[in-house]
Amino acid sequence: MGAVTVNSVHTAQPSSVVQRTEMIAVVGQGYVGLPLAMRAAEVGYRVVGIDVDAQRVKKLEAGQSYVADVPSERLQAALDLGAYSASTDYGDIAGFDVCLITVPTPLRDGAPDLSCIEDAARAIATHLRPGATVILESTTYPGTTEEVLRPLLEDGSGLRTPEDFWLGYSPERIDPGNADWRLENTPKVVSGIDPTSLEAVRSFYDQLVSHTVAVGSTRTAELTKLLENTFRHVNIAMVNELAIFAGELGADVWEAIAAAGTKPFGFMPFTPGPGVGGHCLPIDPAYLSWQVKRKIGIQSRFIDLADEVNHSMPRYVVQRVMRGLNERRTSVNGSRVLLLGLAYKRNVGDFRESPALEVARMLSALGAEVRAVEPYAQATQPLPDGVSLVGFSRRELAAADAVVVLSDHDVFDYGIVAAESRYVFDTRHRCSGPSVETL
Ligand SMILES: NC(=O)c1ccc[n+]([C@@H]2O[C@H](COP(=O)([O-])OP(=O)(O)OC[C@H]3O[C@@H](n4cnc5c(N)ncnc54)[C@H](O)[C@@H]3O)[C@@H](O)[C@H]2O)c1
Repeated sequence: MGAVTVNSVHTAQPSSVVQRTEMIAVVGQGYVGLPLAMRAAEVGYRVVGIDVDAQRVKKLEAGQSYVADVPSERLQAALDLGAYSASTDYGDIAGFDVCLITVPTPLRDGAPDLSCIEDAARAIATHLRPGATVILESTTYPGTTEEVLRPLLEDGSGLRTPEDFWLGYSPERIDPGNADWRLENTPKVVSGIDPTSLEAVRSFYDQLVSHTVAVGSTRTAELTKLLENTFRHVNIAMVNELAIFAGELGADVWEAIAAAGTKPFGFMPFTPGPGVGGHCLPIDPAYLSWQVKRKIGIQSRFIDLADEVNHSMPRYVVQRVMRGLNERRTSVNGSRVLLLGLAYKRNVGDFRESPALEVARMLSALGAEVRAVEPYAQATQPLPDGVSLVGFSRRELAAADAVVVLSDHDVFDYGIVAAESRYVFDTRHRCSGPSVETL
């Protein structure tokens, strides 16, 4: 594969891009798969995006993106050039050169649910040909590529790896909403089940990203992703616990974190919040602890403790709001509470595992009239019972007995929040003033 110059990621193929003949299949067109598919199309590959969700495929075919990091114009440009097509039919990937698997890896009853990977593998196997490369990107426990994916591909195709086809694992590091670190400029960890597979995987990603980092085995690459996520999970839990203690000690945890952050070595700042959401932190570390327990019979205590602390945060936030209302001679039952942000993090509309939803549910169950401002909400995302969406306005702020900042979107004017509200409980440290209490 020859080198290529990529001038822009927002137009589907600048004139300097070499048109390639290879076909890339991307199985799963979600937060991870769609940006990958776009990137591959933009560097000149012919890309087929497969998804089992017919509604999603219909939208993609119509040039309507549901992934915030992929503007619809970018999708439409790739469609117009014929560089990208979406389908529910695995038959459309027949003869593929490289197949990327980016399907969900959820938990079921606390255990990894690999059924999406397994279903995808069976379907891919029937279209596998000698000389092709298959790469798993879904986050999963060490051993999945070799123990789960490999036998399904081999049995379903009658081919063997590495003799007939190549197989690898490359964890996605996509950070939705992060404009600075995008797919193409974030180093990508790559691996293969043998040296030739690694070479095939690496040379493919070298066309997509500025820097690849090879590791010695697919298990190490799988562990790398879980290490990254567990590291954040544990450190966020540590500062969350500190936030709970600090107030009682008469210290300001936010100021302490900022001050410690001035140390040029040996410290990395993490900030407290209402809990953790998305996929990476509430779910992925459980893949590691499950596998550690299953394979070597050891309980991973750091992950368990981080889960416990981070999952307790929504309840702690509700307790603090109740206390704040109580100090103002108001009971939570019957009070009007305005939540700012329902997404699990800033500047995105992703509600998956969002602790804000948990806070909303608890306050509603306690009898509060809960309203929420979520500028990124999509019509298809269900809200907890009793919670209604409202726009951001001075009137809503002034009418609320308590305003709770949960996702600190940049579009909120925090000066107005502090000035117009009678009582603000700010879990993100964005507001200041006499009406404001911080986590
Ligand atoms: N979202 C992130 O920020 C992020 C970051 C890094 C890694 N990951 C990992 O990447 C993987 C995918 O996550 P996501 O956020 O893109 O999920 P997602 O739910 O946004 O998208 C997954 C897509 O796969 C489709 N799908 C499910 N089973 C399928 C099958 N058998 N064949 C074809 N399509 C199928 C679904 O319909 C869905 O559209 C997960 O393992 C996740 O942990 C996600």
